[in-house]
Amino acid sequence: MGKLIKRGNLYFPDKEFKKRAWINNNSIYKEASKNPIKFWGKLAKELYWFKKWNKTFAHKPPYFQWFQGGKINISYNCLERNLEKRRNKVALIFEPEPLGEREIKLTYYELYRKVNKTVNALKKLGVKKGDRVGIYLPMIPETIISMLACARIGAIHSVVFSAFSSNALKIRMQEIDAKVLITCDGYYRRGKIINLKDGADKGIKETKIKKVVVVRRASNKIKFVKGRDCFFDDLIKEQSDYCKPEQMNSEDKLFILFTSGSTGKPKGIIHTCGGYSVQAYWTAKGIFDLFDDDIFWSTADVGWITGHTYSCYGPLLNGTTFVLYEGAPDYPSLDRWCHIIEKYGVTTFYTAPTAIRMFEKEVGKVKENLKTLQLIASVGEPINEEAWKWFFAQVGKEKCPVLDTWWQTETGGILITSLPGVGPFKPTFAGMPFPGVQTDILDNKGNKVKANQKGNLVILPPFSPGILRGIYKNPKKYKKTYFGEYGDKVYFTEDIAYKDKKGLVRIVGRADDVIKVAGHRLSTGELENIIDSNNKVAECAVVGIPHKIKGETPVVFVVLNPKKKATEKDILKLITEGIGKIAKPQKIFFVKDLPKTRSGKIMRRILRKLFTGEDLGDLSTLANPQTVDEIKKKIKK
Ligand code: WTA
Repeated sequence: MGKLIKRGNLYFPDKEFKKRAWINNNSIYKEASKNPIKFWGKLAKELYWFKKWNKTFAHKPPYFQWFQGGKINISYNCLERNLEKRRNKVALIFEPEPLGEREIKLTYYELYRKVNKTVNALKKLGVKKGDRVGIYLPMIPETIISMLACARIGAIHSVVFSAFSSNALKIRMQEIDAKVLITCDGYYRRGKIINLKDGADKGIKETKIKKVVVVRRASNKIKFVKGRDCFFDDLIKEQSDYCKPEQMNSEDKLFILFTSGSTGKPKGIIHTCGGYSVQAYWTAKGIFDLFDDDIFWSTADVGWITGHTYSCYGPLLNGTTFVLYEGAPDYPSLDRWCHIIEKYGVTTFYTAPTAIRMFEKEVGKVKENLKTLQLIASVGEPINEEAWKWFFAQVGKEKCPVLDTWWQTETGGILITSLPGVGPFKPTFAGMPFPGVQTDILDNKGNKVKANQKGNLVILPPFSPGILRGIYKNPKKYKKTYFGEYGDKVYFTEDIAYKDKKGLVRIVGRADDVIKVAGHRLSTGELENIIDSNNKVAECAVVGIPHKIKGETPVVFVVLNPKKKATEKDILKLITEGIGKIAKPQKIFFVKDLPKTRSGKIMRRILRKLFTGEDLGDLSTLANPQTVDEIKKKIKK
């Protein structure tokens, strides 16, 4: 196994590392940037296409397409493509949360059979190509099976994070007119059984969902609606174990995943069959250096994009064995995640800064030697230097590169990170754009900024194959959000970043109202909408403030309706019912007024600064500067 060589504050892979890596030569960046379209075209050929594309990239700003005319199926590529060489290799290892329960291992062949049976079951329920299927499931094998089954017949899956509330489920299912929902009775979280079916029952009211498929997981008591509900295992039991995969057009929709943006409503991000497959396959392979002897563990829940790309499709497309863990990483004790790494000999560990900070604080020194680890990686929010160094020293034992991977729900796969066989690894810097990806950092006028100057991170044509193709039913929002800042040929990421002199990118944070709470993407606007919807509330403002472990946490300011009373409990209830516990604010302040400009715009920036201690700037331009003092006093109390 390789070593890392330290030069100044940079780390480089040694010869051994380079020897093992898929990408070990700097020249790939040059080759790719000379002709990124050709570069991606070459990579795409490694997947199986029923019919080869006739045009690699077509651009009609703000829209673009990849592999036009090509026909592909991602489930075929995850399953059949691996059967010849890896039929009996373990595809996924399911680690249940309860310690007394045995793990489940599914080989590629077993997974293939289960997916096919599930496809036939879905067909029996009337699911066809193009139909939308909701998946409201935790981290269990049936979640992966369901996603692959949908993909196999060209039904568009939309996974909803199992910790989201029934209301959040409802809004999403309504938006896409889902026909069928796949859910489960319950699942384990920190030793308790969460009754998910109950949430599903509430969430599908007022939607077009006609059939509910229920996975038996925790055997908890549920309400069973005859004629509408059926059990997953009963349904697939009698099905045959083969169903021909649909030959999907490269640009057909593969899935819709909702994410938060600046406004109140979540956006249904569209990903397509060809481009996403290529991005997921090649980024998983090239960045995590997947080989046949690897055991890959991404802790991300499938309810988020990281879970889609690296807890499901990416490893399967590469024929890798990966771990799927049901529960909390610190349950029943803080060493659970170390035990999982040791139990299965995990070689690549992908997690989020919030978990790293939590373990740094709670564990301090990691006594397990974690000797099988070769790569460790982070995603979701900026990783601070202290957490980086702790991760590097305590988990990677100073021998594993730390891959700080930057990307978004919208990009489908990782776009910026240092590569294991190339480096360099620099604390808090994500690194270089992935070969074939062109990014830039621009000022507000659209000029390139100099090294070490902050600006807006943008992605330039040909973007990359995995980038979103639209927002479901909302082309206007697509154009405005991503192509509104610098014209329709420049994708604006809404992130602020800068480059060092070597061109390594450091992500500073978001430019919009999106906050990252424990790595989960939430919008302050969405929270405000939920709180404002209550008639006891006159208006409110939500801001994200720094938090030592979670990165950020919401703080709520509420102005009550003069004639009505609401308590902290009422507001909390609105939030947990509207989104879920993950959005629980650090603090709720009832205030008389909110700081506003003369045109009536709420100055959230000022509210935020009251917590960070930053200079508040000139307050005289406000319509009501005295409110700032009043709020300051409240916060101090
Ligand atoms: C942030 C998660 C700093 C960023 C894959 C981005 C990061 C948003 C990093 C997308 C990173 C993601 N360093 N910030 N390595 N990775 N982000 O859609 O602000 O949940 O725009 O996708 O997370 O969040 P999303």
